[in-house]
Amino acid sequence: MDDNTPEEGFSEFKNGQLGLWGVAQIAAGTGLAVYAMWVGILQPGFRKVPLKLQVPYIPASKLQVENVMALLKGRKGGFVDLGSGDGRIVLEAHRRGFAPAVGYELNPWLIRLSRFHAWKLGHHEKVSYRREDLWKVDLTKCKNVTVFLAPSVLSLLQEKLQAELPDDALVVAGRFPFPDWKPCRIEGQGVDRAWAYSMQAQRQKNFAKQSVPTPTIQ
Ligand SMILES: C[S@@+](CC[C@H](N)C(=O)[O-])C[C@H]1O[C@@H](n2cnc3c(N)ncnc32)[C@H](O)[C@@H]1O
Repeated sequence: MDDNTPEEGFSEFKNGQLGLWGVAQIAAGTGLAVYAMWVGILQPGFRKVPLKLQVPYIPASKLQVENVMALLKGRKGGFVDLGSGDGRIVLEAHRRGFAPAVGYELNPWLIRLSRFHAWKLGHHEKVSYRREDLWKVDLTKCKNVTVFLAPSVLSLLQEKLQAELPDDALVVAGRFPFPDWKPCRIEGQGVDRAWAYSMQAQRQKNFAKQSVPTPTIQ
């Protein structure tokens, strides 16, 4: 048992006499706090998602939201954000006239936070946040889709979007572009950059690629 008074402990810290044991205790305490936060706040909802598909929550910057919205300008109808975090992109889409505006998010804390933000602004009846795995959402009727996900999952997501979205859908990716698609427009710079992809143009490109005859060697 350590019978140092708090004042003595603090003065050890102030005088740089913490020692190896003190440093180890601080490191272990910090590690435990980070682990508890990860398990209790950031990780719930992800137990059934394979590790390689888990994407952490990082909110889009103000400029990133602006760039995403600039690429959606002139479009209307339904809107979905896949992995909607604290709901900021869905709220902004609603403000710009998209309806219905829906966010899919697995983390229940973020769903609660999104609903709270919508309620605070008086838009809670106009937007919806659903606790669903984005990989299981039926996208066949979605016309305006946004994503801000890790590069490691974007190549897999390309396949799902390509298989399900209608031809007139526009997909906007924030921060990281889709690895194999060619954007029709790009907005912004650096970490705030966003890329827009027309599904129809994408399908035409894929079709043209498949129809190029392969030379035969005789
Ligand atoms: C980088 S954050 C982006 C948040 C928000 N779209 C934004 O731009 O501010 C990615 C979000 O996707 C969520 N997410 C990751 N995998 C998911 C999945 N399989 N289904 C639903 N949400 C998922 C994470 O919980 C996280 O909140």
